[in-house]
Amino acid sequence: MGATGRAIDQRQMAETAGGADIGLPPVKAGPGCNLGIIGESARLKRVLKQVRIVAPTDSTVIVLGETGTGKELIARAIHNLSSRRDQPFVSTNCSSIPAGLLESELFGHEKGAFTGAVSREIGRFELADGGTMFLDEVGDIPLELQSKLLRVLQEQEFQRLGSPRTVSANFRLVAATNRDLTQMVEKGLFRSDLYYRLHVFPIETPSLRERQEDIPLLVWHFVKKYAQNMSKNIEVIRSEDMEALIRYSWPGNVRELQNFIERSVILTEDSVLHRPSIAEPKNGQKQRAVTPAVRTLADAEREHILNTLRETDWVIGGSDGAAARLAVRRTTLLYKMRRLGIFRPEN
Ligand SMILES: Nc1ncnc2c1ncn2[C@@H]1O[C@H](COP(=O)(O)OP(=O)(O)OP(=O)(O)O)[C@@H](O)[C@H]1O
Ligand SMILES: [Mg+2]
Repeated sequence: MGATGRAIDQRQMAETAGGADIGLPPVKAGPGCNLGIIGESARLKRVLKQVRIVAPTDSTVIVLGETGTGKELIARAIHNLSSRRDQPFVSTNCSSIPAGLLESELFGHEKGAFTGAVSREIGRFELADGGTMFLDEVGDIPLELQSKLLRVLQEQEFQRLGSPRTVSANFRLVAATNRDLTQMVEKGLFRSDLYYRLHVFPIETPSLRERQEDIPLLVWHFVKKYAQNMSKNIEVIRSEDMEALIRYSWPGNVRELQNFIERSVILTEDSVLHRPSIAEPKNGQKQRAVTPAVRTLADAEREHILNTLRETDWVIGGSDGAAARLAVRRTTLLYKMRRLGIFRPEN
């Protein structure tokens, strides 16, 4: 595997841009890696900046984004960067608790409050006292509970079911949803007063399609993680495999990529990652797989660089190389290739 590389290995990743003809993903995994958040795209950096700004305050945050984009990871990062980090982080998924039980889960109940309430149970809001309450899938809270939730958020006071006594809890709220709450408000499915109460500081997690340049970093991150778990030594990813992973639209975002890499690592028997074929998305999503839904500046830059590299038969330096044609220094082009995940395909 030479430096003009048909494949990318981790030793090469450590080389600086000037040392090899092919750009390789950097070893570091981006500014959020100490929080377990991998990536260094501008979109992700913006999110991390918002996280760092809002974390030390006690303000309510709502994290919005498609499934698998890391909303819970962001919620935990906010908690871990706040002064509440040593107190509980209580995560409640409002869609996974049956509607009839949600109220008592959140607020707790006294013995005998309803059939089956054999003992007193304190609720999640009380458990979160001093810490952070993470209300996941907040768009799934039934309408009739929404007014009660609003009251708790405004007053930080509530009653356990079956008790007239008011209990108070000092929690910081982080909510998340992949639903379009604005649309739900318009349809009368979500209270507008609660909507505004939650939208104090919205953070939008970008889809993987909108930050394709992070895919090589994420791929290597998960390859290392699963290879270590399975005591395997995987050092090489073929450049055409990496290109295919970058091109795919990942409708399930980072979660889908993570699971795909786990499967790839299971199937790998030597030091070169074995990539099973990527499942073609079902009819409705096929279009997205071919053309990313959002065409970013990075997409356009990537395509232009790739076309130029093809024209020069992947010659980068020299008077007629790609760098000269693009009017940039050779090292600048190598750096851009690395950032954009451009690798020379195998012949
Ligand atoms: N930037 C990232 N770096 C590393 N791992 C990530 C990143 N984003 C997401 N993940 C991982 O992807 C998986 C899904 O993330 P998470 O559960 O936070 O997504 P979500 O947006 O809450 O999804 P859902 O809407 O389906 O609940 C987790 O295993 C998480 O650790
Ligand atoms: Mg989630």
